[in-house]
Amino acid sequence: MRIAMIGSGYVGLVSGACFSDFGHTVICVDNDQRKIEALNEGLMPIFEPGLKELIVQNAADGRLSFTTDLDSAVAQADAVFIAVGTPSRRGDGFADLAYVYSAAAEIARSIRQFTVIVTKSTVPVGTGDEIERIIRETNPDADVAVVSNPEFLREGAAIKDFKHPDRIVVGLEDERARPVMTEIYRPLYLNQAPMMFTSRRTSELIKYASNSFLALKITFINEMSDLCERVGANVQEVARGMGLDNRIGAKFLNAGPGYGGSCFPKDTLALVKTAQDFDSPMRLVEATVDINEKRKRAMGRRVIAACGGDVRGKRIALLGLAFKPDTDDIRDSPAITISLSLRDAGAKLVGYDPEAMDNARSVIEGMTFAEGPYDAAIDADCIVVVTEWSRFRALDLGRLKSVMRTPVMVDLRNVYRRDEVTRHGFSYFSIGHGQQSDGTIKG
Ligand code: UDX
Repeated sequence: MRIAMIGSGYVGLVSGACFSDFGHTVICVDNDQRKIEALNEGLMPIFEPGLKELIVQNAADGRLSFTTDLDSAVAQADAVFIAVGTPSRRGDGFADLAYVYSAAAEIARSIRQFTVIVTKSTVPVGTGDEIERIIRETNPDADVAVVSNPEFLREGAAIKDFKHPDRIVVGLEDERARPVMTEIYRPLYLNQAPMMFTSRRTSELIKYASNSFLALKITFINEMSDLCERVGANVQEVARGMGLDNRIGAKFLNAGPGYGGSCFPKDTLALVKTAQDFDSPMRLVEATVDINEKRKRAMGRRVIAACGGDVRGKRIALLGLAFKPDTDDIRDSPAITISLSLRDAGAKLVGYDPEAMDNARSVIEGMTFAEGPYDAAIDADCIVVVTEWSRFRALDLGRLKSVMRTPVMVDLRNVYRRDEVTRHGFSYFSIGHGQQSDGTIKG
């Protein structure tokens, strides 16, 4: 199959690289000339484990190329994937579809033969209908089938997720698209990845329903963790006890500082907006959005409380700035909210993240950046584990304590065990571990 991937951002690059790795011929298009030049030189615009190797290999084998020339890429393609950004629109949170619609119009002008147009970008219900309308209006002769095929990629594990998906969802209204999509995903079909064909609107909604449900699951356990602290229970054991029930499942029950990233915050807001527009409000999702925002702010207060109620002039070290490990992405990261509230309370901030410091520099004003976790801890009055990067999981606590001014650790990801940290002389604050009836705290 010949595939044109419109938009060489996160989703476009991962999808394009993986499709070419399946043996398809893929041309990735972007209107950012510098990005395309860099990609042609093997330089990645984003950090994603394994992506560079995949791109360099498939480009060398001649199956993957990068261009700004949308017209020729689309003209030769059997399928054109739209993978441009859909940021939250300022003001109302609705997904901003300007890039999707302008891509649709551009694609329409370049269609030469029957082509399947596939929306990979996360788009609200009904967007496929609008894309089809734009294409027909721009070029009435264009012979297209417009399909929805949402991505379910986690940053940091995107290639694995692409190659071993739980499911492939394809929403179509024109049966001619079915054999094309089946052929594109055939390598996964052989791996028995279930491929689900549905209507286009249903497919569009599946993506929002999935992400919102996961956000809700995280928010549930986060609220449960607050209750655990009050009643003297242990949230990790509660989560394990719940998760062993197959109907619930153990995943996405890790209590923490609140979810962030490029998907959950944006997609929950967009679903709330769609539901309101269709006069069918989703109150659970509305509450999830609200609780998560408040939680991120509450984490700053937790750190202040751990420092004795006042952080003025105190040096606080944040370990992990990305919204989760294995990514350089800081969009909606709890680290940002926490940093800003600590800074406003008068703290001096030092941060360290293995990949996200460049992105953090322009966003977290007033933070100084360290070379590593021990460097960050020098003279610190408190160390806060915000993101559970592997390299923060087994820090030498003796060494850490020896460089700090006051040995206080706030572990927002429950990476450490209390007895281990306190044995080294730290005051330790975790998430969702309340005082038991005998006065001890487990976890
Ligand atoms: C998510 C979805 O998982 C993916 O399917 C979708 O296509 C895009 O959005 P991503 O945003 O990359 O992926 O990260 P994910 O691993 O889902 O984590 C999202 C946020 O939830 C992170 O801030 C993470 O720290 C938080 N989280 C996740 C928790 O706080 N607890 C958990 O148990 C799981």
